[in-house]
Amino acid sequence: MSTASRPYNFSAGPAILPAEVFQRASEAVVELRQNGHERDAAGTGLSLLEISHRSKEFGAVHEAAVALAHEVLRIPADTHKILLLPGGATQQFAMVPQNLRRDGRPMVYVDTGAWAGKAIAEARIQGPTEVLASSKDVSYTKVPEFDPSAAEGASYLHLTTNETIGGIEYSSIPEVDGVPVVIDASSHIGSRPMDLHRAGLGYAGTQKNLGCSGLCLVWIRHDLLELEPVAPIAKFFRYQSHAKADSLLNTPNTFGILVLKLVLEWLRDQGGVDAMAKRNVAKATRLYEALDASSLFAAMAQPGHRSNMNVTFTLGGAPEADQEAQTKRFLSEAAQAGLVNLKGHRSVGGCRASIYNAFPAEGVDALVEFMRAFEAKA
Ligand SMILES: Cc1ncc(COP(=O)(O)O)c(C=O)c1O
Repeated sequence: MSTASRPYNFSAGPAILPAEVFQRASEAVVELRQNGHERDAAGTGLSLLEISHRSKEFGAVHEAAVALAHEVLRIPADTHKILLLPGGATQQFAMVPQNLRRDGRPMVYVDTGAWAGKAIAEARIQGPTEVLASSKDVSYTKVPEFDPSAAEGASYLHLTTNETIGGIEYSSIPEVDGVPVVIDASSHIGSRPMDLHRAGLGYAGTQKNLGCSGLCLVWIRHDLLELEPVAPIAKFFRYQSHAKADSLLNTPNTFGILVLKLVLEWLRDQGGVDAMAKRNVAKATRLYEALDASSLFAAMAQPGHRSNMNVTFTLGGAPEADQEAQTKRFLSEAAQAGLVNLKGHRSVGGCRASIYNAFPAEGVDALVEFMRAFEAKA
């Protein structure tokens, strides 16, 4: 695949991956090498897609992916078990309450927007659910203020630490005495050092910073694996079953696991989450500064709450009657200029530039230049 002719892909997910990962994953689809190496090892004569998930070769890929997740994402193996599960992050919205709900203790959520809302709706199906704080009154343009200690006595406290649609991000993960904190870190995991060990349970769909869709990385504290569910649940939806089977309770997404391993190797070789944080801050700052300096474009999220991964903006400086048409024209001309997938989520409208780890700084420069030129002739 020629990278020179590729458009800059601002997709929110599935999203851009490093060119090296595309290359190596495609090599493994043609032929997986011995012991899970995609290169520099004897060939197996077989594609990754046609070998058993219990084979020695795939076993090496799976083990490496889990070990790298512990190492690169700094999730300690002595406190947390890593699971690679099907069903994306959406399945976790249901599994979390099914597994962690305790009798007489409400499940407590912070409402930051679309994804938190979906998680809350699933919890309500299972039992008493409370919303500790919400930023609905400001159209989810910030993370609401809340006192984590107000969640004491809860089954757990759930946070969506980066809202992919609204473009807001928590700066840290709080701790609550005696209450597991559960986080959905789908759209910013691996983007910076994050104290992921603070979460009793965390999850991230892999199709943004970690690989491709259909796979979810879950990390869960060992003691939480021992909890007896308060109501019967299917074996397949119990974390303990997946932990006992080392995520091989059923045939896993073998391709997704290979891509996860490749992305984590890439992340490690780039200097890990520290190096990534520097790049991501630089990219996001450049874009937010351009938005703040513009009289046509306007960032949606409030300063101090803005996501470094999903930058949401409008053409708020255009006359109101003309805004929709101008936005359409902007998106269409941007696409023609090779800046694709900038349309905001249908529920909030406007525009969104998702600039995950693999998104190049030059692509942000190109967008900023394009916005300036568009504004000059608007
Ligand atoms: C923050 C967040 N949570 C959950 C999901 C749902 O993930 P999936 O479609 O993999 O189930 C998404 C998807 O974009 C997301 O951004």
